[in-house]
Amino acid sequence: MKILVTGGAGFIGSHIVDKLIEDTNEVIIIDNLSTGKKENLNSKAKFYQADIKNYEEIEKVFEQEKPEYICHQAAHASVPESVKDPISDAENNILGSINIFKLASKYNVKKIVFASTGGALYGDADVLPTPETYEAKPVSPYGVSKLAAEEYLYCFNFLNKLNYTILRYANVYGPKQDPFGEAGVVAIFCQKIANNDQPIINGDGKCTRDYVYVKDIANANLSALKSEKSQNIYNVGTGIQTDVNTIFQNLIKISGRNIPEKHGPARIGDQRTSAIDSSKIKQELNWEPKVKLEDGLKETYEWFKNK
Ligand SMILES: NC(=O)c1ccc[n+]([C@@H]2O[C@H](COP(=O)([O-])OP(=O)(O)OC[C@H]3O[C@@H](n4cnc5c(N)ncnc54)[C@H](O)[C@@H]3O)[C@@H](O)[C@H]2O)c1
Repeated sequence: MKILVTGGAGFIGSHIVDKLIEDTNEVIIIDNLSTGKKENLNSKAKFYQADIKNYEEIEKVFEQEKPEYICHQAAHASVPESVKDPISDAENNILGSINIFKLASKYNVKKIVFASTGGALYGDADVLPTPETYEAKPVSPYGVSKLAAEEYLYCFNFLNKLNYTILRYANVYGPKQDPFGEAGVVAIFCQKIANNDQPIINGDGKCTRDYVYVKDIANANLSALKSEKSQNIYNVGTGIQTDVNTIFQNLIKISGRNIPEKHGPARIGDQRTSAIDSSKIKQELNWEPKVKLEDGLKETYEWFKNK
């Protein structure tokens, strides 16, 4: 398959690229390197530094490469940033995505796989783990922009027969995640602990999330690209809730460091609980998470320690 990965220099996108290349596919990357890094680029992929907000610039890549499939990961991926600057979030995540969907239709792309979100769409749901059928009522501009892009895909399929699969990720963690952003508690803690610094746990540390390992996410993308099934939405997570204190204690055990637990003030508006039900993707695409939290944390910590 000839596959265009947008955001292929980012955390998740670069793991997807590595997996696709390992699976002997031809890979093209579009990334504007806003949060992505050159060092994440797989040397076997063809890289275009370009911005999905710029239709003409992106069309040149489509003209040149004529990709058969698209894996669309490029986005502003931060909830707090989206609250600070909802216009920029919408420009990237809605208008940028529309450019990709328009070009996918125009150049007869066989299928597009879109990176959406579970946690930011369902919010503090009263059904846990939350299934895809639960009403999406996002309370952040980021959640709204992801939901809008999902709806555009439905519309582009109706108008142009564009085939798509939407993957709603849980909280993704693993090597290469940016430890300096607001998101990614695992990356932040790994970086601090590896440097023998004290991580601060927000509030009582009892907020739960569904932590899914990035290589499992890469496999889910590969399964979705290969599947003949289309017009589908799948949650991609473990269904297991883990709280921040448990993440901290696990990492302390793995590291062998002697750093006591320290708590700071709770973050206003932090979701209390989150876990998503991924039984549909297991049933239809035969995907399930393979990496246990303890093993994923170990690999992630080792990566940060050696960096
Ligand atoms: N990390 C998570 O836990 C998580 C959870 C749910 C969904 N997602 C989604 O997964 C995708 C990847 O997220 P990530 O965590 O790897 O973030 P990331 O910031 O590491 O990756 C995003 C990539 O997109 C690129 N990009 C951003 N805007 C662009 C633009 N206008 N044009 C071209 N490239 C652009 C960035 O440079 C970066 O390389 C995003 O769509 C995100 O919303 C992530």
